[in-house]
Formats: sequence, structure tokens, C-alpha cells
Amino acid sequence: MEWKWLRFIRMAVMLLVLEGRRWCTTDACLEHERIALLHLKPFFNYRNHLQSWVEVKGSDCCKWERVECNTTTRRLIQLSLNSTKWEFNVEYWYLNASMFLPFEELRSLYLSENAIAGCIENEGFGKLSSTLSNLEILDLSRNYLNDSILLSLSELSSLRYLDLSYNRFERSSHPRESDKELYYHQMFDYKITISSLQQAFNSDKANNM
Ligand SMILES: *[C@@H]1O[C@H](CO)[C@@H](O)[C@H](O)[C@H]1NC(C)=O
Ligand SMILES: *[C@@H]1O[C@H](CO)[C@@H](O)[C@H](O)[C@H]1NC(C)=O
Ligand SMILES: *[C@@H]1O[C@H](CO)[C@@H](O)[C@H](O)[C@H]1NC(C)=O
Ligand SMILES: *[C@@H]1O[C@H](CO)[C@@H](O)[C@H](O)[C@H]1NC(C)=O
Repeated sequence: MEWKWLRFIRMAVMLLVLEGRRWCTTDACLEHERIALLHLKPFFNYRNHLQSWVEVKGSDCCKWERVECNTTTRRLIQLSLNSTKWEFNVEYWYLNASMFLPFEELRSLYLSENAIAGCIENEGFGKLSSTLSNLEILDLSRNYLNDSILLSLSELSSLRYLDLSYNRFERSSHPRESDKELYYHQMFDYKITISSLQQAFNSDKANNM
């Protein structure tokens, strides 16, 4: 008789644990991703666009504006921080790309129209290459980026789509190489793929050997 009770209690506890785990994974985003979003907030909250990003413990950041999560894992897969500073004459600034490191399952990152002039030293996009292995879409269009950002971007090998249009790239930095010129021209006006960026850097390396 006693043995039966023990078995019943053990089963009840197991059910509670399982149910609790299910509740945790379906009803809120990960705490460290929520905190990382709050660290990003001051840089992108120009004109109070991110009102739903609140400092309340347990708040489900998957429901915050401009955030999209995988419905199963509850981890961030898309972050749309575009157009938070779109006006003319907004002061340019330098981004710390390491702030995106906690979002390990991120697939799309939209950062256009933000007056970004580059990354702060040693905190460039290259730092994300091993951790954000699912990052496929990166939109950096309509910022104040120049050629110095390109090397770190070429390290993001998972990218399928990279938009660098309307920045401040120099068309004439390699005046003797006609193919290079085409590539800068494309980058200035249109959308390019990461493979053409990597090819350009690989041919640079080969040429310098
Ligand atoms: C969500 O994550 C699961 C498990 O990793 C994966 O199988 C599924 O394809 C993902 N869904 C989306 C929409 O990314
Ligand atoms: C941000 O970019 C996404 C994807 O291109 C787009 O759907 C959305 O409308 C943009 N948001 C703003 C505020 O421009
Ligand atoms: C950049 O952000 C990371 C992650 O938030 C932080 O650990 C690091 O100290 C920051 N770097 C600088 C130079 O502020
Ligand atoms: C390009 O941007 C970097 C910072 O990201 C800056 O130090 C450099 O002076 C800029 N170069 C030109 C030609 O504007």
C-alpha cells in the first residue's frame, strides 16, 4: 500500500516538473536575451520607438515590437531595429556589434536608417561570425558606413543577403581595377551578396601575395 503511494507521488512530481518546463519554454523569452535587448534599447530608442521594451522581470520579449521569436524555442530569430533614426542631420555614431552576441539563433537583423558610421574598435561584425551561425539577412543600408566596415562583414559566412546600399563607400579607392570599381559601384547603389564581398577580399589577398 505504502509503495503504491510512493509511486503515485513520484509520478505527480514528474508531471509537475514536465509541465513546469513546458510552461517555461512556451510562455516567455529567454532572460538573457531580454536583458540583451534592454542593453540595446538606449541606442535605438530615438523618438521612443521601443516603448514595449520594458524593464519588468519575466516580461515576454518575444511579444515586444520589432522582435520575432521562434515559436518553439522562444529564441529571437528576427530583430528589426531599422529606421529608428531616420531624420537628416542626426549625429552619427559607432555600434558595438558584440551586443548582438546573445542572440545565437538570429536569422535576420535590420539596421538600416540609423546613422551608424561603423563599429567601435574590436567590437565589429566579425565577432559575430562563430556565434550567430544562422544569420542570413543583414540590412545596413542608409547609414554612414565607409569601406572600413567591409573586412569584418566578409567574415559573416552564413549571410545570404547583405544590403549596403546608400552608405558612404568610396567608388574610386581601387581606380586601376575595373572589376573592383564595378563592385563598389554595385555596392553603392544596389544590393550585393556576401559571396561577391568575400571574393573581392580573397582576390585582394591573392593579389598581395
Ligand atoms: C524553430 O526551432 C525549431 C527547433 O530548432 C526548428 O525545428 C524550427 O524549424 C524553427 N522554426 C522556425 C520558424 O525557424
Ligand atoms: C524594417 O524592415 C523590415 C524588413 O525590411 C520592414 O518590413 C519594416 O517595415 C521596416 N520597419 C520600419 C519601421 O521601417
Ligand atoms: C560591447 O558590448 C559587449 C556586450 O554587451 C560588452 O561586454 C563590451 O564591454 C562592450 N564593449 C565596449 C568597448 O563598450
Ligand atoms: C571610415 O570610418 C572609420 C570608422 O569606422 C574612420 O576611422 C575613418 O576615418 C573613415 N574613413 C574615411 C575615409 O572617412
